[in-house]
Amino acid sequence: MVIDNLEYFTDVFFRLEKFTELPSSVFLKLEGFNFAGSIKLKPAIFILNQLEKEEAIKPGIHHIIESSSGNFAIALAILCHSKGYSFTAVIDPNTTSEVVKLLKVYKANIVCVNTRDQSGGYLESRINEIKTLLSKNSNFVWANQYANQYNFLSHYEITAKEIHTEFNKENNNEPTYIFTGTSTTGTLNGLIRYFSEFCPNTKIIAVEPVGSVTFSQLTKSRLIPGIGASRPPELSKFFDKSKLHDIVWVEEIDTINMCNRLLDEYTLFLGGSTGSVLAAILNYKDNFTENDTIIAISPDFGHKYIDTVYNPVWVNDNYYL
Ligand SMILES: Cc1ncc(COP(=O)(O)O)c(C=O)c1O
Repeated sequence: MVIDNLEYFTDVFFRLEKFTELPSSVFLKLEGFNFAGSIKLKPAIFILNQLEKEEAIKPGIHHIIESSSGNFAIALAILCHSKGYSFTAVIDPNTTSEVVKLLKVYKANIVCVNTRDQSGGYLESRINEIKTLLSKNSNFVWANQYANQYNFLSHYEITAKEIHTEFNKENNNEPTYIFTGTSTTGTLNGLIRYFSEFCPNTKIIAVEPVGSVTFSQLTKSRLIPGIGASRPPELSKFFDKSKLHDIVWVEEIDTINMCNRLLDEYTLFLGGSTGSVLAAILNYKDNFTENDTIIAISPDFGHKYIDTVYNPVWVNDNYYL
């Protein structure tokens, strides 16, 4: 295979056989196989392309800015570097050291907010910082993954279609369940739109960490980046909640235990939210039958979480002491 641009992603599913006590296989949709190392390359491409089409941004003139504790910032940093835009990522103390180093590789400017918002997270503080920077710099343009509809359109056009195509082609069936973590709700939104249109029998399940406020009022400080929100994302208003089959909440410690278990039992080194999604599937197991096809979205690999989720000292200090 020869590829000639950075905007390439593979479409790979890993079959988890005999996953714990489940009656059917789980297929992990591995989204880490691209230059950005995560699912966020898709919304980043769609949002930047659209801004260029609308002539809202021009290389060498405009400066892209975004709030992200990880993957979306990395995807934008790569695309901005390759297209000739300068870029600022507004991050927070939960952003892992690996992410900060990666952002520096791609010459991103980094602004770190340190004040927790009312929900115990940092999202509101990051957004406020963006608004301040926008008011001071007329050439700054906010990609805004939380409100930009090209975020969920990328998942409607690519992620959802890839799942549908694979399972029609290989197994001549439709997925029974798709479990996805939620942050901006872009992935969830794209999946709901696509499957309610083309495969209405497929049940879409949202996975949220306990303490995140998109589907619950219960706030709690959280440490694992990538999944969850401390302020309801604007995009969550854009989908029909009656088409969402269910929501499963997962504790961070169950996420961590699941990530480490996947490593021990399957030698799979995957990101925090993949652990959340599989922990949710385990919690949901009484609903499954042996004929079900269960898809789990795995947004990234484990490298960015080496010093946290995969570090027993960090886990002990933060969850057991
Ligand atoms: C690492 C990571 N990236 C992306 C996503 C998808 O989030 P969004 O709701 O923003 O599409 C998640 C959610 O689980 C995630 O954990």
